[in-house]
Amino acid sequence: MYLDANATTPLAEEVWEAMLPWWREGFHNPSSSHTGGKKARAAIEQARAQVADLIGAQEDEIMFTSGGTEAINALLRSWDALDDSGAFLTTAVEHSAVLRTGAALSRPMLTCGVSETGALDLSAWREHCSAAAFASAMAVNNETGVIHDWKQAAVLAHEAGKPFFCDAVQAAGKIPLSVADAAVDALAISAHKFHGPKGVGALYLRRGTKFSPLLRGGGQERGLRSGTEAVPLIVGMGAAAVLAKKRLSDGTIARIAEMRDAFEQAVVAGVSGVHVNGDPSSRVANTSHVSFDDCEAAGLLILLDDKGVACSAGSACMAGKQQPSHVQKAMGFSDARAKSSLRISFSAHNTMEEAHQAAAILCAAVKKLRSVQSTGVGPVVIYTP
Ligand SMILES: Cc1ncc(COP(=O)(O)O)c(C=O)c1O
Repeated sequence: MYLDANATTPLAEEVWEAMLPWWREGFHNPSSSHTGGKKARAAIEQARAQVADLIGAQEDEIMFTSGGTEAINALLRSWDALDDSGAFLTTAVEHSAVLRTGAALSRPMLTCGVSETGALDLSAWREHCSAAAFASAMAVNNETGVIHDWKQAAVLAHEAGKPFFCDAVQAAGKIPLSVADAAVDALAISAHKFHGPKGVGALYLRRGTKFSPLLRGGGQERGLRSGTEAVPLIVGMGAAAVLAKKRLSDGTIARIAEMRDAFEQAVVAGVSGVHVNGDPSSRVANTSHVSFDDCEAAGLLILLDDKGVACSAGSACMAGKQQPSHVQKAMGFSDARAKSSLRISFSAHNTMEEAHQAAAILCAAVKKLRSVQSTGVGPVVIYTP
C-alpha cells in the first residue's frame, strides 16, 4: 500500500506509453538536422506546450531541467550572480533544495517564520522584503501539505521591487497554478510528483526575467540550459502534465480528499492522543500529517512497513535521520511531537479501501508501540543508534 506520494508518485500508464517510442526508435539527438532529429525536436516542443498549459505559461517561458532541485539551483544561483547587494529572503519551512542552496549563496539568507498551523507570517515577510535582493517561497509544503499564500508573498516582494521565485514542486497537479495572473518571475516543478518520470523538471521564467545559465555548453533550451535533452523524460513530463491538468477538474482531487479525510477520521476515532497538523482550511487534498502522543514515528514506520504500508516521517530527505524536522520546529512543535509525526500522502492510484485499511493498521501499530514503550519490553525492539 503506497501512501508516500509526496516523496514520489507511481508512473501513470499513459505516461509510460508516451515515453516508450522515445527510448527506442526515437533515439535521435533533437539538435540533429535529419528527420529523426526533427521528430525528437517536435516531441520536445509538444511537451513544452503541455507543461506550459499546466501552469498557464507561454511555451517560451518553460526551460526543462533534470528535476526540481536543478530548477531551484539554477534560478537561485543565477539571481545570486546577477545581483550584488541585499539578502536572500525565503521561508523557514522550505525544502532543503532551497535552504541548502540559499545557504551556499554569496549573501545572507533571511528565513521568514510560520504559525503553528504552518501559515506564512506575511507581515514579517513584508518587513523582510525591503532588506532582500530577491525572494523565494514555496507554494505547498512537502511535509504538511499546507498551501502557502505564495501569491500574496509574491505581490509583497514586487511591491518592494524584488523579484520572486516559487518552489511549486508539491503544488503542480494538486492545486491550479496560474502563473500569468501571479506576481511570480520564476517557478519550479518536477514531473515525478505528478505521475511523471524522475529526473526531469521545469523552470518557468517569465518573459524578460533576468537569468544567467548554470549549465553552459551546446546552447540547448535557447541557451539557458545546455546539454542534450532527455527526450523520453521530457515527453513523459508533457504527458504527465496533460493528465495532471485533466485531473484538476475531473473530480480526482475531490476523490483523493475523501480518502484522506476518511483516513484521518478513522485514525482520530481509533486511538487517543492524535493531532492532525497543518491548517485544515488550507491544505492540499492528498496529504495527512499526524502526530501521536507517546509514540515515536521511527517505530511506527517499521511496524507499518512490516504490514506493507509505505509512508514517511516528515520528508523523504529526513528519513533515517534522528533530528526533528525543521518544518515542525518552525511550527513550534516540541521535539517529542515532531519525532512522533507521520506524513501519509495519497494519489489518484490509491483507493478508499486502502485508506480504511491503512487507518486500521496504523491504529493497531500505535497501540502496539505504546504498550511496548510503557512496559519497556515486548515483541518490538526499536534500535536507535
Ligand atoms: C517542495 C520540494 N521542492 C523541491 C524538491 C526537489 O525536487 P526533485 O526531487 O525533482 O529534485 C522536492 C522533492 O521532494 C520538494 O518536495
